[in-house]
Amino acid sequence: MTKKLYISTYGCQMNVYDSARMADILSPLGYSLTQDPTDADMSILNTCHIREKASEKTFSELGRLRNMRRDKQSEGRGDMLIAVAGCVAQAEGDEIIKRAPYVNMVFGPQSYHKLPEMLAETARGAGQVLDTDFPVEPKFDSLPDEAIDKNLGAFLTVQEGCDKFCAFCVVPYTRGAEFSRATDDILKEARRMIANGTKEITLLGQNVNAYHGLDKNGKSRSLADLIQMLAELDGLERLRYTTSHPLEMTEDLCKAHRDVDILMPYLHLPVQAGSDRILEAMNRRHTADEYRRIIDKLRHYKPDLALSGDFIVGFPGETEAEFEDTLRLVEDVTYAQAYSFKYSPRPGTPAAGLDHEMIAEDVKSERLARLQKLLNEQQLAFNKSFEGKTVPVLLEREGRRDGQLVGRSPYMQSVYVQSPPHRIGRVAEVIIDEGNANSLRGQLSPGNAQDAA
Ligand code: 5AD
Ligand code: SF4
Repeated sequence: MTKKLYISTYGCQMNVYDSARMADILSPLGYSLTQDPTDADMSILNTCHIREKASEKTFSELGRLRNMRRDKQSEGRGDMLIAVAGCVAQAEGDEIIKRAPYVNMVFGPQSYHKLPEMLAETARGAGQVLDTDFPVEPKFDSLPDEAIDKNLGAFLTVQEGCDKFCAFCVVPYTRGAEFSRATDDILKEARRMIANGTKEITLLGQNVNAYHGLDKNGKSRSLADLIQMLAELDGLERLRYTTSHPLEMTEDLCKAHRDVDILMPYLHLPVQAGSDRILEAMNRRHTADEYRRIIDKLRHYKPDLALSGDFIVGFPGETEAEFEDTLRLVEDVTYAQAYSFKYSPRPGTPAAGLDHEMIAEDVKSERLARLQKLLNEQQLAFNKSFEGKTVPVLLEREGRRDGQLVGRSPYMQSVYVQSPPHRIGRVAEVIIDEGNANSLRGQLSPGNAQDAA
């Protein structure tokens, strides 16, 4: 009998990858995915701890699941196991066990490969199961070979953890030290994805360009090496990687953007701030001009590279002039797309101790609005610059309107196009009619292979 598994995923793409692997692990135990938590036999919240209110959000979601379980039980529709995974589980596992005694399992990002054992323990009536170890033997060694998701675009985690210790960030504490998977394991997983129909792979890591995995001869390989190896796999059409740190934007990686055809011309390279004093206080270990020079180098090798970034406004002590340095950096670099946040203290991080320098909430909001206005203008201008151009679009799924498909351009833009559905899964040349704030609209170029009658 199949059991229903509901997974709610918050936060970054690493969590999306982890959720997919949890589904893979539970599949042989008879669990298949459902979108409907009211009817689930097991519900997992895969949580994110990066910004504030993460734990309150988790507890309120847990309360909702508890009510659904109660309804299920009282209507005689069986039971529901409730689990908390991800970074809130890692950081606040004990607290969750205490405050939510109805939760069956709490486990961190490094221990979900033990889900079958945890399920067995729960079935034996062992009470609440908590596993937030950083195990010596990495979970990747025990992930199943069979994937149940057959996505055209798939995420593949190649690196985890972070040793950078930016002063505002919880990642080094929740995800632990940097770890890179061996190239052979990654190639094997990529081949399996391609055999399942994947055309585009995004290599994931909290610090993906710090990748330094061993090859089969025991030699340490860089992300650029790994990209070269993956580019040789038959059937793979597109490759991306995220998220990167400026310090590790090495020459060979910059050059890979010129030399590797299937490496897409898009890069997410967070800078966080444009003032050298703030960058130092953030422990970013580079200056604004060093970042500018990295961008120049990248554009030297790949002139059409589209850039994305992350920004934090209102870091403790940030003056108006220092905030304006961020605006100036954005003007100099020009982003195709970006994420921006108000600084929020994360317990346990060095910056959380800078109480006396905290910036008032209304000042942070005002700065964020100014930064986002500029970033949105750049994004719109970038999208508008495509009007009249022809771009290759990997068509991924049907759109909301009749006869419409949605896909991605090489530059990560969503593209809406009128097309028969059988083109899903293929790259089509699309003439762009309209560039909007968040997407492009266009039509199939007559140059595409004719449709079968
Ligand atoms: N406050 C605000 N933004 C943060 N980020 C990480 N920690 C914080 C924090 N304490 C942002 C950074 C990072 C992105 C994933 O989240 O910009 O790059
Ligand atoms: Fe966090 Fe900095 Fe590591 Fe990125 S590089 S995960 S922001 S500590």
